[in-house]
Amino acid sequence: MDKTLQDFRSRIIELGYSYFFAKALLAAVKLDLFNRLGESALTAREMASKTSCNPRAMGLLLNALVGMKVLGKRGIRYFNTPLTREVLIRGRGRFQTCPYYIGDILNFHNNLWEGWGRLEESLRKGRPIKQHEMYLEDRAVTRSFIHAMHNTAMGHAELLARVVPLKGVKTLLDIGAGSGAFSIYFCKANPGLRATLLDLPKTLEVTREFVANYGAEKRITLLPGDYNKSLPKGFDAVFLSHIIHSEGEKENLGLMKRVYECLNPGGRIMVQDFILKEDKANPPFASAFALNMLLYTEKGRSYSFKEIKGWLEEAGFKSISWPRLPLPRDISIVMARRGTARRAPTENPT
Ligand SMILES: C[S@@+](CC[C@H](N)C(=O)[O-])C[C@H]1O[C@@H](n2cnc3c(N)ncnc32)[C@H](O)[C@@H]1O
Repeated sequence: MDKTLQDFRSRIIELGYSYFFAKALLAAVKLDLFNRLGESALTAREMASKTSCNPRAMGLLLNALVGMKVLGKRGIRYFNTPLTREVLIRGRGRFQTCPYYIGDILNFHNNLWEGWGRLEESLRKGRPIKQHEMYLEDRAVTRSFIHAMHNTAMGHAELLARVVPLKGVKTLLDIGAGSGAFSIYFCKANPGLRATLLDLPKTLEVTREFVANYGAEKRITLLPGDYNKSLPKGFDAVFLSHIIHSEGEKENLGLMKRVYECLNPGGRIMVQDFILKEDKANPPFASAFALNMLLYTEKGRSYSFKEIKGWLEEAGFKSISWPRLPLPRDISIVMARRGTARRAPTENPT
């Protein structure tokens, strides 16, 4: 076997078992292992007793976590590394004191596990195995989903607010704002800016807590609404983050048309998502994420820049661009502007 074939063969085998690593990490989060370990150094037996697990089995998990460089090990004792403490220890109180905590998003991914186990079923039917219920029924489910979204948003909200120029923008509408993290940081970076966060009423109960926790109440207004129905008017900018991947093409075109109407002349739209290149296969996370949307939504998937550009053009937007911004995890943003001229009235007002 030549080297190229051997490497390819090995890479595919590794891909096939890559979920071993994912599930070991997610099980540890589910057992609250990192928080229970805290600042201490414990043996497998001690950790097993704290998590109600079998000591031999716990030893195997802890060693795997050390191998994955998530935990450290000295003799027979295991400990959180300084970096692990930054991201996997919750902190005290209802809100994490640790701003970079990611336990909620990892718990959310653990909850998706069951769906991914039924991928073949979804592939045969071409339909979701289960609808997203994040914002509809159960308050606790909505809360944990919005906390998970906050974890991911905090990965680059601060950076985004620095790299996206919002000079001259006084009013921003954040559609499907989630925790409001992006708008909170946009407001921090732009002293003259006020943001309106439009979201479903149950989500806004959670958003309100985040906005208060960041002391941003004076600059941020919460607006209950459904982006599939109507949008308020008179904004200099609209931000849509991780919204289009849950909707179908027709719905997204309709949304872009509504956004156009809610912008002031010269106003801008920013669409943040896992945006695909023209081949619809890259970046790889975006194309794999489309399968997650197959599993959990009726019509959602990842979209290419070309598709998004098509909706924006049809809605009337100009200066459509896909700038290379230094964002993590294959996230990117499409930007466009509404022209400065007001549209001619459709009827003669006589
Ligand atoms: C994937 S989350 C994205 C949250 C946030 N934009 C972010 O990037 O972190 C989707 C958000 O859209 C909201 N949402 C879903 N359907 C909606 C609808 N029909 N109208 C308004 N908001 C909606 C959810 O409540 C949730 O906050």
